[in-house]
Formats: sequence, structure tokens, C-alpha cells
Amino acid sequence: MSPKDIDAVILVGGKGTRLRPLTMSAPKPMLPTAGVPFLHHLLSRIKAAGMQHVVLGTSFRAEVFSEHFGDGSALGLDIEYVTEAEPLGTGGGIRNVADRLRGEHAMVFNGDVLGGTDLRAVLYTHTTTDADVTLHLVRVGDPRAFGCVPTDAEGRVTDFLEKTEDPPTDQINAGCYVFKRSVLESIPTGRAVSVEREVFPALLTAGARLQGHVDAAYWRDMGTPEDFVRGSADLVRGIAPSSALPGRPGESLVLPGATVDPTALLLGGTVVGAGATVGAGARLDGAVLFDGSAVGAGAVVERSILGFDARIGVRALVRDAVIGDRAVVGARCELLRGARVWPDVQLPDGGIRFSTDV
Ligand code: GDD
Ligand code: MG
Repeated sequence: MSPKDIDAVILVGGKGTRLRPLTMSAPKPMLPTAGVPFLHHLLSRIKAAGMQHVVLGTSFRAEVFSEHFGDGSALGLDIEYVTEAEPLGTGGGIRNVADRLRGEHAMVFNGDVLGGTDLRAVLYTHTTTDADVTLHLVRVGDPRAFGCVPTDAEGRVTDFLEKTEDPPTDQINAGCYVFKRSVLESIPTGRAVSVEREVFPALLTAGARLQGHVDAAYWRDMGTPEDFVRGSADLVRGIAPSSALPGRPGESLVLPGATVDPTALLLGGTVVGAGATVGAGARLDGAVLFDGSAVGAGAVVERSILGFDARIGVRALVRDAVIGDRAVVGARCELLRGARVWPDVQLPDGGIRFSTDV
């Protein structure tokens, strides 16, 4: 089985609620990540593994994907789009692309995972075990936010427990599966279906062979602000591998057209987007500045995301926060842990403080 005969299916129809307000203008997989839309990193891994035909299962803001990637030829891929009028869930989204598949097996991806897994090795496991579905699995510190997937001594999946409070193992669903086409076609049509909560448990009950493929490669779900910031910084520093990174890995990435004052400090995998400006003495540590955003002189931005054309005033402090598109954070404001500013909101100079220091 050659990778070029495998269809790649990417689920990108989610609303990205945990990344609001950034996902109010762009779907999560299209948010700029280390200089390119996030999906570009995944597509270049698919291409590097030798796959060619890609079907995007879209729903929310479907047009944004096709406007950017077109027929995929610029990336050397053949990309098709299938849009769900109403979101069909992960399982429904997979079933919904069945009539576009060309081969006997499809490799399905969650569209928000940053990873360094050897995709050919996952395909190899699928072939050699003759599995109905092969699931890529990874080990994480806290499995409760994921699908927990125990396996037996041969690596066969014995259970699938989506987001359980009491996980029996730290082994989780990494969001990449290889389906036999006939198994994919057995997913019910015409209604919303969760692959995690319905399809996998039903296949296990029916005695289907679900094979786990465990590895220790880089892996991160980019669905929360904390993970998005970490993943972006890891890409910039070369900790997360990607052939789509525009430039060489380093301590920061400054995109063409950005203006950074020579006295500003850029640390921790900071990204400064096209047309963004950073003032004198500003300190950016693990900051993600989308295109056109601005950081005033003496401001500090740590582990935070600034949306398109957002502005941070002089000597403001922004730490572990998300600032929406075009929002303005006034001079000397302080925004800390978990703060989210909605698009176009304007906080006046000195308008928010977390301490009584002047
Ligand atoms: N087409 C389509 N339709 N895509 C959808 C839909 C839908 O209705 N709902 C979600 N998606 C897409 C999202 O855009 C995302 O790329 C992917 O499916 C997974 O959805 P998330 O909302 O990010 O799920 P999660 O992170 O909570 O959990 C999933 O991923 C974990 C690994 O990252 C599950 O698959 C877990 O089992 C898994 O551990
Ligand atoms: Mg996710």
C-alpha cells in the first residue's frame, strides 16, 4: 500500500470556541501559526509522507479554507472541499466525505493537531495488522481533556473513553486514524455522529479490529490559548518540526514588513506578524502577534496572542491573555491570567490594573 493511494481527510469544521475571540474571524485551523495558517503545517506533513489527495471536511467558515488553499496545487497537493450545512460532528464529518475517496483506506486527521509523528509508520501498522481502524495514540500528563484509549499487549484497542474524569491510562487518542473505506462507510449518514463517543465504542462492541499505534513524537492539540502559544513557540524554536516554517528556527520569528525597535527584546519563540510594530524597550516573551498588531514602548507581552491590528499601549503588561482583532489596550493597563479582550474593545489608558502600584 503506497501513501499516494491513501486519501487524507482533515476535519476542520469545529467552531474553535476555546480560542474565542480569535476564532470569531478565522476558523481555528486557519489562525496564523509561526508565519502560516496552522493547517499549512499539517498539509506539508501529509505531502512529505507521500499522500496527494486531500479532502477537507468543513462547516464553520468553510469559504476561508478554499479561498486560501484553492485546489492545493501550490502545495503540490490535490485538495477538495466538502461542506456540512449543519455540523455533523467528527464521525458525521468523516462519513460525509466518503463519495470523494479514491482508495481503499483513508487517513483522517483532526485539523488542530501539531505533531511530528511518522505518518508512514502509522500506515505500516495499519497494513501489517490488517486493522479495520488504526488509531495514533500518545501519552500525556493529564488525559482527562482527551479520548482515553487503553490497549492490550498486542496494541489492540480495548476501550475508548472520551473525556473521562477517571482515565484508566495516560494513553490518548492523538486525533489521527486510518480507516478501511468499508468501515468508514458503515458510519450512519444524515445525522450528527461523534466518532469518539459513538463510532469507536460501537466498532469495539461489534468485535472490529482497532489497532493502536503509540509513539513519543512531538504532539500538541492547539485548541486552547495556552497550547496555541506553546505550539507556536515550539515551531519557531524548532522543537515542533515543520517544513512550512518560513525561515530557520530561532528564538523569534519576525515576518517581512514588521518593524521592531532595536532596543526591544524578543524571546521565547515570539512571532511578530507582517506589518506589526514593536516599540522601544518592549519585552515580548512567547508572544504571538498577528499581522498588523502593535506593541507600544516599554510594554511587556508574555505567553499571549494579539489578534489582527490589535494595539497594546506603552508600558502595558499583558500576560497569559488573548486580545481580539483591532482591540486597544491602553497605556499602563494590566491584563493577566486568562484575560480575553473582545474584538474592537478599547480599554482606556490606565483603565485596568491588577495591583495598586502606580
Ligand atoms: N467537519 C467537521 N464537522 N469537523 C468537526 C466537527 C464537525 O461537526 N466538530 C469538530 N470538528 C473538527 C475540529 O475542527 C477539529 O479539527 C477536530 O474535529 C477535533 O475537534 P476538537 O473540538 O478540537 O476536539 P477535541 O480536541 O476536544 O478532542 C478531539 O481531539 C483530541 C486530540 O486532539 C478528540 O478526537 C479526542 O478524542 C482527542 O484526544
Ligand atoms: Mg482539538
